Amino acid sequence: MRRKIREILAQGQVGTEVRVGGWVRTRRDSKGFSFLELNDGSCLSNLQVIAEQTLPDFENVIPHCHTGCSVVVEGVLAESPGKGQRVELKAQSVKLLGAADPEKYPLQKKGHSFEFLREIAHLRPRTNTFGSVFRVRHAASFAVHKFFHDNGFVYLHTPIITTSDCEGAGQMFQVTTLNLEKMPRKDEKVLHAEMAAALAGHPVSAIDFSTDFFSRPASLTVSGQLEAELFALALSDVYTFGPTFRAENSNTSRHLAEFWMIEPEMAFCDLAGNMKLAESFVKTVLRNVLDTCQEDMKFFDDRIEKGIVSALEKVANASFQQMTYTDAISVLEKCGKKFEFPVAWGMDIQTEHERYLSEEHVGGPVFITNYPKEIKAFYMRLDEGEKTVSAMDLLVPRLGEIIGGSQREERLDVLERRIVECNLPKENYWWYLDTRRYGTVPHAGFGLGFERLIMYLTGMQNIRDVIAFPRTPGNAEF
Ligand code: 4AD
Ligand code: MG
Repeated sequence: MRRKIREILAQGQVGTEVRVGGWVRTRRDSKGFSFLELNDGSCLSNLQVIAEQTLPDFENVIPHCHTGCSVVVEGVLAESPGKGQRVELKAQSVKLLGAADPEKYPLQKKGHSFEFLREIAHLRPRTNTFGSVFRVRHAASFAVHKFFHDNGFVYLHTPIITTSDCEGAGQMFQVTTLNLEKMPRKDEKVLHAEMAAALAGHPVSAIDFSTDFFSRPASLTVSGQLEAELFALALSDVYTFGPTFRAENSNTSRHLAEFWMIEPEMAFCDLAGNMKLAESFVKTVLRNVLDTCQEDMKFFDDRIEKGIVSALEKVANASFQQMTYTDAISVLEKCGKKFEFPVAWGMDIQTEHERYLSEEHVGGPVFITNYPKEIKAFYMRLDEGEKTVSAMDLLVPRLGEIIGGSQREERLDVLERRIVECNLPKENYWWYLDTRRYGTVPHAGFGLGFERLIMYLTGMQNIRDVIAFPRTPGNAEF
């Protein structure tokens, strides 16, 4: 049976026979034997393999073991005289499965820039950094499910194809089987009649979608929230964890066109309860990753961001602060710092402001609450005075917004009014409104961008480097 290097390095007993498979990171030749540094991705460390010249087939195999080739090695574990490892493997046979031409293999030993590695995203998982990122990503997603499971939440798979825009921001990727070369157009008379009947602000399409796959325009979802709300109003506490899509043309280091979002939704819950859940959720996931990914986290601390482990330890034990949007604006106005986007009540808080608030003003994670209704989505609960909504964003140092959430508008009349005010087609939301018509309850939830969380945990600076194959404007290779 093949054994994983992770297991061998942790518990392998000297004298036992093992069989391992992996990719050669480097080979060093010495008098009478060669060293192979073998990695199988199960952990950051390599297993050192000693291949003596007396091995059967030595001459035919070992000189061809270049960086990147794949091998299966059988041998006996021996105490390692070298520092840094407990055991090494004395080979009894080495099989070369797949060669890697040293003139052509792009991942030679020297360090490569992350920009270059993005161009070879099919091979970058074989580097130390990406191995660590994806092991941490796995541990974090496992911790997410464990947190919700332990707290009695039901995991809900919400649809990826949708006919409603949850955030109302119009940043949706359209899904169609219509022939783009020959789109069916509505009859002129029908089109004119529809335009005359349309409410101000409601665009009327000239395309006849009745022959499209879903008989109407459909898109990839920007959020599973609306469907999660329907289930929260039946199962009380649910969460989604799935891919979401946004066609926003923002080519930043924090935005992807395809990203994974975690969205819990709780019935009988208000904004305060929502923040309580968010705080305990973030801290529990941090704790879990710090405890289970020590080797990888030490790598990030040594090589990616100095001090990240102690900073995360501090956050896992701190209590998160809260501040209203109105107070945040006045802090920003008085701080004497020059911002690219000038500060005024009513504006959307930009990344530079978010970072100032969490990094310099608070020095840790902070919830900003009660934003002006004009800059938030239609479903957020209107506060008294009707100027602000019961929204909350969690801002963290280095990144800015990591979570966006709110208490939802549970009052039918207010919700109907907000849908109209936000220029959304009310008829598309009849099912959503029904939950307010029958047995409505206060409820709340939030969305955490999973890749932002991984950036936060690893110190990686670009969101393209914490997802396997990033989709961004102009990029969908692999
Ligand atoms: O603030 P957002 O837009 O909120 C929602 O979608 C709500 N429906 C969530 C809810 O209440 N159930 O997005 C939530 C989070 C952001 O805080 C951010 O972490 C992440 O999703 N996010 C992105 N991550 C990567 N690339 C993008 N383009 C992102 N847009 C949002
Ligand atoms: Mg947001």
